[in-house]
Amino acid sequence: MKLIARRTLLATLLALPATAALAAPLTLGFSQVGAESEWRTANSASIKAAAKEAGITLKFADAQQKQENQVKALRSYIAQKVDVIAFSPVVESGWDTVLKEAKAAGIPVILTDRAVKVADPTLYVTFIGSDFVEEGRKAGRWLLERAAKTPNAALNIVELQGTVGSAPAIDRKKGFEEVIKTNPKLQIIRSQSGEFTRAKGKEVMESFLKQRDKKIDVLYAHNDDMAIGAIQAIEEAGLKPGVDIVIISIDGVRGAFEAMKAGKLNVTVECNPLLGPQLMQLAKDVVAKKPVEKRITVNEGVYPAEVAAKELPNRKY
Ligand code: AHR
Repeated sequence: MKLIARRTLLATLLALPATAALAAPLTLGFSQVGAESEWRTANSASIKAAAKEAGITLKFADAQQKQENQVKALRSYIAQKVDVIAFSPVVESGWDTVLKEAKAAGIPVILTDRAVKVADPTLYVTFIGSDFVEEGRKAGRWLLERAAKTPNAALNIVELQGTVGSAPAIDRKKGFEEVIKTNPKLQIIRSQSGEFTRAKGKEVMESFLKQRDKKIDVLYAHNDDMAIGAIQAIEEAGLKPGVDIVIISIDGVRGAFEAMKAGKLNVTVECNPLLGPQLMQLAKDVVAKKPVEKRITVNEGVYPAEVAAKELPNRKY
């Protein structure tokens, strides 16, 4: 039986006004990607705090960056007949079957943070999250402006990509390349996944630095954690991060502001993880069958090192 119908029946049985029964808490099943970055930790904390604040019963599962764990969690939420499911998909593809199961069970699905590629877009109700292509473009535009100050110099770029097959890795690469291709002096000479983690970012940067055929001028990291790991690798190689190698990253976490303040990171493009309050409102609206936008984006800025010291005390994540 559908939630609204269940609640109306409950109201009748208890001889209560329907609005009183409607005040019964919603149950939201949420499947999180993992705990791979400072961004993700802030995102999970925002969702948990907002659920509490909104009086929503939250069932939360950490998938440890594995799609199979997310599919299991979604199936378990379907079996538990939660009112609404939300998840941040680790990769873009491979969701059609489980989303069809949710639809058949009458449970609405909200995507948060990352998008999916599905044949039938009605398999989810709405998607709230950043525009990752635009984030990549912002990173590229910052580099174009910087390169304009040394117009004759060619710049060799190395790229630390996020999780293979994930929306932010695909889109941030696309947006960045779209912008930098307008200046043929900017060339990506190496590109590899650092899985959005500090440890892997460091490891891959070490291997980039060991290949001595070409000098590295710029590092473009798809998130701050990989940039912070790479900073360690650069220092251990006897180079000055932010000076010998210009570093551009994405997220805008506190760690990045601290690195910028120390002169080790040149710019971070903001990606806001504090999606909890909007997600809870959406969950309520979706369950109440109110109309919602299919795509909800988040407004975000660009923070160069020059503003880091002033901005750091204002950062909320
Ligand atoms: O999907 C958002 C990305 O996932 C963040 O940029 C990254 O830090 C996280 O792991």
